[in-house]
Amino acid sequence: MSNRSLIRSLQNELHVEDVPLARIAADYGTPCYVYSKAILARAFNDFAAAFPTQNTLICYAAKANSNLAILSLFARLGAGFDIVSEGELRRVIAAGGDPRKVVFSGVGKRAAEMRAALEQNILCFNIESEPELLRLADVARDMGKRAPISIRVNPDVDPKTHPYIATGLKENKFGVAFDEARALYRKAAALPSIEIIGIDCHIGSQITDVRPFGDALDKVLALVDQLASDGVSLHHIDLGGGIGIQYKDEVPIALSHYAATLNARLKGRNYQLIFEPGRSLVGNAGLLLTRVEYIKQGGARRFAIVDAAMNDLIRPALYEAYHEVVSIAPREGESATLYDIVGPVCESGDFLARERLLALAPGDLLAVLSAGAYGSVMSSNYNTRPRPAEIMVDGSSTHLIRARESVQDLYAHEKLLP
Ligand code: LLP
Repeated sequence: MSNRSLIRSLQNELHVEDVPLARIAADYGTPCYVYSKAILARAFNDFAAAFPTQNTLICYAAKANSNLAILSLFARLGAGFDIVSEGELRRVIAAGGDPRKVVFSGVGKRAAEMRAALEQNILCFNIESEPELLRLADVARDMGKRAPISIRVNPDVDPKTHPYIATGLKENKFGVAFDEARALYRKAAALPSIEIIGIDCHIGSQITDVRPFGDALDKVLALVDQLASDGVSLHHIDLGGGIGIQYKDEVPIALSHYAATLNARLKGRNYQLIFEPGRSLVGNAGLLLTRVEYIKQGGARRFAIVDAAMNDLIRPALYEAYHEVVSIAPREGESATLYDIVGPVCESGDFLARERLLALAPGDLLAVLSAGAYGSVMSSNYNTRPRPAEIMVDGSSTHLIRARESVQDLYAHEKLLP
C-alpha cells in the first residue's frame, strides 16, 4: 500500500472510494478526517493473509486510532486488541471487541486498571517491570483470580527509527532488560496468582528494515529456550507492532518478507503468534481534509494558512514527520510555488508541511495524506479548537463516525469560581 492508495483522481477531482472529497467538505465541513472502510479492511486482511498456516492473533494497537467504528470493523474481521489503558479497554468493549482477545501493554498500569482487565478476563497482561508483576499478583490474589502474563523483554536492538518511537533499546523505559528477564520469569513462576502464558517484545514504530525484527526474534527465542530449561513453557510469542508505512519515499517491508523472516526462525516450534500492528493497519487508510484560508507572502517564505493545525495533527510539529499534501482539484497549467502549509495556532511549530510545490488559492481544499494513524488520537483542544469530525467512506456512502466537537463541549467540565 502506498501513501496514495487512499485517493484516486476522477475528472481531475480527488475521491476516496467513490466519494469526491469536495462533497465531504461541503457536507461535513473542514477540517475533518476521512477514512476508507475498504482500505482498512484490506490492510487487516493482508496482514492476516501473510500468516495463513499459523495460529496467529492480530491484536490491533488501539492507540493508533481508537475510533469505535474502526475498532468494530477490525473486531468483525477477527482482530484482538493491544490496549494501554482502561479507557482503551472500555472502547474495545463498546465497539463489540472480545476482551478475551485483548493484550494489555504499558509501563504504568494502575491497580484499578488491572482489576478492570481481570474482571473482563483479558487474554494477557504484558508485564514491563518487577513492581508491576508484584502489583498484578496482589490484585489478582485479592480477586481470587490468576492473572495471565507475558513479560515484555527489551531485546536491545536498534530499529533505526525516530528516537521518540524507538522502544527496544537499553536506554528506553520499556520492557524488562534482556539479561533480567529470565530471573523475573522465575519469580513469576513462584507466584500462585500469576499464570505465565507468553513472552512479548515491541521494538519501536515506523520500522522499514526487516532485520531488527529478525534480530529481536532470535533473542526472544534464545530466552524461550532458557525458560524451557527452567521448566517454564509458553503458549504464545507476541512480536509487537512497528511495521512502517510509506509517508514519502520509504519502501515499507513487504508482509511476505516479514512473515518469511519470522517463519525461518520459528520452524519446528509451535507457538501462537501475536502481533500488535497499529500504524500499518490504519496509517494510509486516512487523510486530513483542510481548506486554505489565506495565502500570505512572508519575508522569506510563502505560506498557505489552512483551517487544520497542530492540534488536529501534531506529527509534523512533534517529530518533524512528513505527510504528503495534495490539492483536491489541482489547478492545471497554473505555476506552482513553494508553500509552507501552516495552521492558525499561535506557535511557530504549527506547520503541517514545509516547502511543498503547489498551485494554490484561498478556498482550495487540501488532503494531508497518511493521517489515519496517530492523527485524530493525538489531537488536542489547544487554542480552544474543537477537534475535527471523522468520516468513514464505504463505496458511495459516507458515515459520520465522530461528530465535530462544539465549543461548549470544550468547557463543559469547567466551573466558574463561586
Ligand atoms: N505495541 C506497543 C507496545 C506499542 O507501544 C505500539 C506503539 C504498538 C504496538 C503499535 O506500533 P505501530 O504498529 O503503530 O508502529 N505517536 C507516534 C507512534 C508511537 C507508537 C507508540 N507505540 C507516531 O505518531 O509516529
